[in-house]
Amino acid sequence: MTELELIIDLHLDNERQGPGSDQTTQKALDLIGINTSNHLKIADIGCGCGAQTITLAQNTKAEIIAIDLFPQFLEKLEQKVTTLGLNNRVKTQVASMEDLPFQPEQFDIIWSEGAVYNMGFEAGIINWRKFLKPGGYLAVSEISWLTNSRPQKIEDYWLRAYPEIDTVSNKIKTLENNGYIPTAHFVLPTYCWLENYYIPLQKRFDAFLEKHQDSELAQTIVENERNEISIYKQFQSYYSYGFYIAQKQ
Ligand SMILES: C[S@@+](CC[C@H](N)C(=O)[O-])C[C@H]1O[C@@H](n2cnc3c(N)ncnc32)[C@H](O)[C@@H]1O
Repeated sequence: MTELELIIDLHLDNERQGPGSDQTTQKALDLIGINTSNHLKIADIGCGCGAQTITLAQNTKAEIIAIDLFPQFLEKLEQKVTTLGLNNRVKTQVASMEDLPFQPEQFDIIWSEGAVYNMGFEAGIINWRKFLKPGGYLAVSEISWLTNSRPQKIEDYWLRAYPEIDTVSNKIKTLENNGYIPTAHFVLPTYCWLENYYIPLQKRFDAFLEKHQDSELAQTIVENERNEISIYKQFQSYYSYGFYIAQKQ
């Protein structure tokens, strides 16, 4: 298996592939303040196995297209969708977020939790804007600094991992600069990281290593995840995901 295949395998059986929760997805939906009984069209970009897709489907009457680059994640989502009888409203699509196969002004809401970093926040919000109907909403979570200054160790770590990390106020400014009206934002609480993401992931490390015969690559992947978790525990007061709601201007 390649490194990418191993990373997918480690994350595949998790409920979530990044920090989040049903409550924060619902909170973001409430903050949009749109009538969820309407026949809305939602794109969920970088959906992973679709934890948030299911929350959106269960709390709206929307037609949802869930997009991810990796079919393995979408197959998991399709299984959940079938079990819950949501097939008529939730469709999946393998595509890159950088080259989405959609028509202009197709969606009422573009949703993306913990995924836009793959193409970069600014590039993503610029690229996706054309797919929103006039007055449509963007709901996107993005790694953000919570304070104006921070220890050098955590600054260095994140600037290496994702140089576009920035303060909440600068993320809002980026939205304003690119044709959006920021209407609300909040920060993901700690349980979204620990109870909902890192702890379930950590529980899979031993089985993952055993499955892959303790290969050097598998060990490196687990080591990197352990390091990320330890960094989070140490520096969680300096960063989190900001959840940004913005209307197409
Ligand atoms: C951190 S995970 C978040 C998944 C999910 N939204 C969640 O919160 O559980 C990021 C997701 O982006 C997907 N992804 C990475 N690059 C992508 C791309 N170029 N286009 C579409 N999806 C991509 C990954 O496969 C993964 O499912």
